[in-house]
Amino acid sequence: MARRLERLDELDAVVSSIDVLEEDAEVALANRTRKSALGQFLTPTPTADLMASMFATYREHVRLLDAGAGAGALTQALVQRLCEDTKKPRRISVTVYELDPLMLERLEATLEGCAAMCKRHCIEFNYIIQDEDFIESATGMVRDDLFAEERTTFNTAIVNPPYRKINSTSAARSALRSVGIETSNLYTGFVALILRLLEPTGELVAITPRSFCNGPYFRPFRADLLQRAALRRLHLFDSRTAAFREDKVLQENVIFHAVVGEPAPERIVVSSSSGREGDPITERSVAFKEVVNVRDPELMFHLETNEQQERAGHVMKGLSKSLKDLGVTVSTGRVVDFRAEKFIVQEPAGNTVPLIYATHFGKGGYINWPIKNSRKPNAIVSEPATSSLMVPKGTYVLVKRFSSKEEKRRVVACIYDPARIDAEEIGFENHLNYFHRNGSGLDMTFAKGLAAFLNSSVVDQHFRRFSGHTQVNATDLRTLPYPDEATLLRMGNHVKKEPMDQNDIDNLVQHELG
Ligand SMILES: C[S@@+](CC[C@H](N)C(=O)[O-])C[C@H]1O[C@@H](n2cnc3c(N)ncnc32)[C@H](O)[C@@H]1O
Repeated sequence: MARRLERLDELDAVVSSIDVLEEDAEVALANRTRKSALGQFLTPTPTADLMASMFATYREHVRLLDAGAGAGALTQALVQRLCEDTKKPRRISVTVYELDPLMLERLEATLEGCAAMCKRHCIEFNYIIQDEDFIESATGMVRDDLFAEERTTFNTAIVNPPYRKINSTSAARSALRSVGIETSNLYTGFVALILRLLEPTGELVAITPRSFCNGPYFRPFRADLLQRAALRRLHLFDSRTAAFREDKVLQENVIFHAVVGEPAPERIVVSSSSGREGDPITERSVAFKEVVNVRDPELMFHLETNEQQERAGHVMKGLSKSLKDLGVTVSTGRVVDFRAEKFIVQEPAGNTVPLIYATHFGKGGYINWPIKNSRKPNAIVSEPATSSLMVPKGTYVLVKRFSSKEEKRRVVACIYDPARIDAEEIGFENHLNYFHRNGSGLDMTFAKGLAAFLNSSVVDQHFRRFSGHTQVNATDLRTLPYPDEATLLRMGNHVKKEPMDQNDIDNLVQHELG
């Protein structure tokens, strides 16, 4: 009994010291601009605990790396978990990297707290704080590997890396390039380096944006990750703000657990939760090939958070046609407004043609043009210099590349109907994708069927399985499976009512696709 009370006291002390540290850390980070420059979003305790619970292998000597450690929340959660394990490690050696001098004092206090905790549990503990740039230091270590016989390796890594784009001329980008890592975001750079610093069988648990799961920019990263490590578990949050509630991060996050140097498993665990303390976690075992099909050239990750998405996955799997089979192409609108600025005008005139933006998406499912006093211009001057930006008169299906926060669906499609807009040519702005046949328009019935399909909840749910952000790339639309032409025409023939609400669209699509 006395022993239990002692343990509870110990836990209380740890929890209150974390709270104090988090409060202090938040004060230090009050300046949001600074936070985003450093990609600073501290992991809340329930999420850190969940991450710490994912490590699966017992190690006598845990050699832990926490890169971009902030106030040390992740190391703290893992050390606490190891201290509570029935079979405890004999020794824990921690290396943390943190670039922000304002964080260092708190980080040191956290590590001293860890040392005290380990001492009480008779675990040897030592730590090193590297107050330097992890990218620079780690690329150095990876490069030295080519020559050095030995260096400290890690067998455990826990990380919430900074999230920030790194442009192609930055020092970080060239350091990464020097060890063969080609990536455009700091977080994928961090993870790629950690995978190289972990020894075989070493485990990584990382929380990152979901953006790496699809899209062409992250394809090299996905390939690298899948080649170097076996994914054992993926955890998703049910809402976009869940993991970093306090910071109002509008980014979907994912936690993954990977083991370096192991072959891909047959099955992996996909779990999800709200991210709130005490809320339940749902877990499913899923065949690995359902998540990543290694024959898919894009190596997209298909992640399902709920049954609806699972059902959508089955419906989509039953579809056999590609856009190419249908003789249809999807392209990105050619008018980049800042480049064509001098030809763009607010209102149509004798020498202009319609310029279509996302603002012109009408509620009825058709392009509504022109819009008087619109915040976007309505027209572009037609002359030889702009002729390559235009498409000929015809019926097109348009899809927004960026859906707004208020929009319920990710994929939002709308029909450009030449019978409603009197123009021989049209300019589609670059924030739109458009479906066409060899540069010309589509048959109207086919276009109606295609737009209904794209606007259905089935496509939306399917899309959410592999996309963690609100962007819809032409590549995403190209890789979707589609119904055959006869089915799309049947759907098109049934689109009678205008406007169709979500229920009407879903009933129609469900009726045809089952
Ligand atoms: C997303 S925060 C996570 C902090 C902490 N791991 C947590 O989960 O609460 C990323 C941290 O990385 C630090 N950081 C940013 N760039 C870094 C770099 N190049 N090297 C080392 N640390 C960096 C930031 O200052 C920030 O504290």
